[in-house]
Amino acid sequence: MPVITSIEDLRRIYKRRVPRMFYDYTESGSYTEQTFRDNITDFQKIRLRQRVAVDMTGRTTETTMLGQKVSMPVALSPVGMTGMQWADGEIKAARAAEAFGVPFTLSTMSICSIEDIAAHTTAPFWFQLYVMKDEGFVDGAIERARKAGCSALVLTLDLQILGQRHKDLKNGLSAPPRLTLPNILNMMTKPQWSLAMLGTKRRTFGNIHGHAKGVDNMASLMSWTNEQFDPQLDWKKIARIRDQWGGKLILKGINDPEDARIAADFGADAIIVSNHGGRQLDGAVSSIRMLPSVLRAVDGKTEVFLDGGIRSGQDVFKALALGAHGTMIGRPFIYGLGAMGQSGVTTALKVIQKELDITMALTGVQRAAEIRNSNRQHVLVPKDFEGDWA
Ligand code: FNR
Repeated sequence: MPVITSIEDLRRIYKRRVPRMFYDYTESGSYTEQTFRDNITDFQKIRLRQRVAVDMTGRTTETTMLGQKVSMPVALSPVGMTGMQWADGEIKAARAAEAFGVPFTLSTMSICSIEDIAAHTTAPFWFQLYVMKDEGFVDGAIERARKAGCSALVLTLDLQILGQRHKDLKNGLSAPPRLTLPNILNMMTKPQWSLAMLGTKRRTFGNIHGHAKGVDNMASLMSWTNEQFDPQLDWKKIARIRDQWGGKLILKGINDPEDARIAADFGADAIIVSNHGGRQLDGAVSSIRMLPSVLRAVDGKTEVFLDGGIRSGQDVFKALALGAHGTMIGRPFIYGLGAMGQSGVTTALKVIQKELDITMALTGVQRAAEIRNSNRQHVLVPKDFEGDWA
C-alpha cells in the first residue's frame, strides 16, 4: 500500500479501484463545471497569517457542532449512492465517522437504509431528506429517522430539479449498474470492488425500495426517482416538515444572503452554505466566497456550516477563520471509501485533522473554537468575497 499523505492521494487510488460510472458520478459538476472548480480554487485565494513564538502545546481540534461534541468540526455530507462506491458504503462511512467522533449524514438516495445505519452504529447520525411529491414517503422517512434516533434532519433545498451532469447521462448511471458489455468489461478491471459487491445484498436505493408506494422493482424505482422531486417546495412546505420532525433542523443548500436571512428568521438550528458541490446551478458563486455575506445576513441567529471544495485541513481552517461554526466534506470521504473502504474514510479524516492541527500550530491557535472567534485575524481574503448581491 502506498504512503498516503493527502486527499489527492486517495482520489488517485479511488479512480483506479471503482467502476468508471461511479468515479464520474462523484468527480463531476453540472454543465461546464465552473462552480465545481470555483469551490476549490476560491479556497486557494485565501491566505493565512503566519505567527511565531506562540506556545503551541496543548492544541485541540475538538469543538462542537449543533451542541454536539466533535473531534474536529468536519461532518460527512450526505452523498447519494455511497454504497455503490464500496459494498455497504454508508455503513462503513458511518462507522468510520462514529469512531473518529464526527457526524455522519445519511442521504435519502443512499444504498443502505436508515435502519441499516441504526443497526450498525451507536452514535446518532443525521438524516438528509429530499422533499418528494409523495407526502406519504416524506412522512414515513421522517418517522423512520425519528425511530432510528437521528439527532438532526438535514433538509436539502437546492435539488428540486436536477442540474445536468453530462457524464452521468452518457454512462447510463444506475444502481446497480446495468450489465451491458462495456460495464461488465470495466467492472472486470475492478476485482476488489466487484467481489465486495457480490458479497452484499445492498445494491439499490435502500430508503426507497419497498418504502415508496408502487416501488418494488428497478423499473418502478427509476421512474419514481425521476418524477418525485417536488417542484412546489416553498417555505410553507418546509414549515410543515419542521413541525412534523420537531427535532433539530439543518437547512442545506443556502448560497445567498437573502435566503440565509429567511432561514435564520425561520428558526433553522443550522444552515449549510452549499451549492451541492457544484452539481446544481452551474455558474453559482463558490460557497467559500458566499460565506462572509451569509454570516452577515444571519447575524448570529443560527449556526453556519459550509461545504464545497474542502480538500484539506487548511481549507477547514480558512472556513472557520471566516466565521463558519463547522464544515462538511463530500468527495474527500468518498475518495477514501472507494480507495480503501472504511479505513480509507478514517484515513481521509486523519489527513484533514493532521493538516488542521499543524495549521493551528503555525498560526498560533490552541483550540478550534478560537479560530472562529478570532474575528478573521488569521486570514487575508480577496475583496470580492465581501460583496453582497446589489
Ligand atoms: C452529493 N451531494 C448530495 N447532497 C445531498 O443533500 N443529498 C445527496 O444525496 C447528495 N448526493 C451527492 C452525491 C455525490 C457523488 C456528491 C459528490 C455530492 C452534495 C454533498 O452533500 C455536498 O454538498 C458536496 O459534496 C460538498 O462538496 P465537496 O465536499 O464534494 O466538494
